[in-house]
Amino acid sequence: LSGRNVFTMEIKIEKTKTPKAKPVDETKLGFGHIFTDHMFVMEYDTGKGWHDARIVPYGDISISPAAMVLHYGQEIFEGMKAYRTPDGSIQFFRPEENFKRMNISAERLVIPQLNVDDCLQALHELVKIDADWVPHTDGASLYIRPFIFAADPFLGVRPGDKYYFMIIMSPSGAYYASGLDPVNIYVETNYVRAVRGGMGFTKTGGNYAASLIGQDEAHKQNYSQVLWLDGVERKYIEEVGAMNIFFVIDGEVVTPALQGSILSGITRKSSIELCKKWGLKVSEKRITIQEIADAYDAGKLNEVFGTGTAAVISPVGHLKWGDKVMLINNNKIGPISQRLYDTMTGMQYGKLPDEMGWIEKL
Ligand code: PLP
Ligand code: COI
Repeated sequence: LSGRNVFTMEIKIEKTKTPKAKPVDETKLGFGHIFTDHMFVMEYDTGKGWHDARIVPYGDISISPAAMVLHYGQEIFEGMKAYRTPDGSIQFFRPEENFKRMNISAERLVIPQLNVDDCLQALHELVKIDADWVPHTDGASLYIRPFIFAADPFLGVRPGDKYYFMIIMSPSGAYYASGLDPVNIYVETNYVRAVRGGMGFTKTGGNYAASLIGQDEAHKQNYSQVLWLDGVERKYIEEVGAMNIFFVIDGEVVTPALQGSILSGITRKSSIELCKKWGLKVSEKRITIQEIADAYDAGKLNEVFGTGTAAVISPVGHLKWGDKVMLINNNKIGPISQRLYDTMTGMQYGKLPDEMGWIEKL
């Protein structure tokens, strides 16, 4: 399939007898509302390993009300996309990275490891079956959500013996209603999202549950997202609710170093690699919100942007820290953000050559 990987897992396929109507207006998809016709399911039982890989019609599932995930949150997920190219073919962006990261999350939450080639095979087979669901409209794509949860019906606290690995898919447009227009971000100073040694570096539901109260506060103040500070000193910048954060200070691209409490974003890593290739100075380091405010006051805060699969490259227009509101680049996307956006989406949608070897064709 991809040429690199050997796919050997047996996947049973049951096709839907009642395919749904596809969205008519792909410019109005929003994010994560609509689901395709099929989903991938595989089960794990201690002693048996992963078994019964299958693709079945998308639909509700039945689990015990005592299922461990509902009580103690032993759950992980990933987020990736399939893109439609101008010649009508379908491709992925660094999909292997997502499944490698899923195994990193799995290790932290004591969930059994998956074979990355099996995951890629599941991804390819599922997208092939629902290929017509990959949008044809610029800016839209098929958002793909792999996830694993513990399903044992048991109320004791321990790692599960029974897991489900599933993949569901949702044709989606821009994550933020504002599209590529700058988003407004609120710096949370009261609550924290994660601490080093905790689960911040994993993609697990609990991190997002921890972030909701900050997001709620941001919305109350008419800001769309939260920028989290470190959980100990509450002064070092970490990340945003659903994306990593970058600053351009006096021409230098700066992003918080990965130290266990923030997610190692694949868009983050790709942005760093591109900026370095372009000869820009890039630093991954601890940086305080005070340093950002100082750079702003000195007129040296050129650009702020977030990176993420759902968010792509999202310029930040306003950054609010306490009573201070920083207006970034006059609320317009800056040149580095724009170049990253154009290059990244150009490669993802097959409009630019895959110079970095990041694209995997279906
Ligand atoms: N940080 C958080 C908390 C996220 O949810 C995401 C989205 O996946 C990211 C960062 C960006 O990661 P990636 O670029 O791999 O999508
Ligand atoms: C993603 O970008 O894939 C994310 O996980 C963001 C999500 C929490 C909506």
